[in-house]
Amino acid sequence: MLLLRWSGQARGEEDCMVGDVNLFLTDTEDPTLGEIEIMIAEPSYRGRGFGKEATLMMMSYGVTDLGITKFEAKIGRENEASICMFKKLHFKEVAVNSVFQEVTLRLDVSDEEKRWLLDQTSHVEKKTYSEPK
Ligand SMILES: CC(C)(COP(=O)(O)OP(=O)(O)OC[C@H]1O[C@@H](n2cnc3c(N)ncnc32)[C@H](O)[C@@H]1OP(=O)(O)O)[C@@H](O)C(=O)NCCC(=O)NCCS
Repeated sequence: MLLLRWSGQARGEEDCMVGDVNLFLTDTEDPTLGEIEIMIAEPSYRGRGFGKEATLMMMSYGVTDLGITKFEAKIGRENEASICMFKKLHFKEVAVNSVFQEVTLRLDVSDEEKRWLLDQTSHVEKKTYSEPK
């Protein structure tokens, strides 16, 4: 899990949390599959590029550090913004669950996709939790 922290005007640690992005390794038989979830919980921080940036960062971490080769995202059918965002990140719709009113989007990380992903996140610097104060 990565908590998204905005250091603009907020004071305390919790004041500046705007959302989170999670990567779950849900398939015990296939550790190369990652299920990704993103939420910009603070509405005033939506539509400002944070969701896309955080998702790309988590995917890049998954590919380079965890050996993930495919991602899935399960999203409520009514959640157009999220579906739209994942499609922009090259995910394709692979299933619709009418019981849960949910669509599954998937990305298989080919060599070309991996190059694209690493290129999108080439400006990102990795630090340990205690460093970025
Ligand atoms: C969906 C969500 C994660 C997107 O994050 P964001 O920071 O708001 O989005 P970004 O500014 O990074 O935009 C990235 C892309 O998302 C899509 N998008 C964002 N807001 C959108 C909206 N209101 N309608 C349609 N598409 C939208 C666009 O494709 C956009 O690409 P573009 O800027 O090139 O057009 C965020 O708005 C959110 O958490 N929304 C509510 C909670 C939710 O439903 N979460 C999903 C649970 S899985």
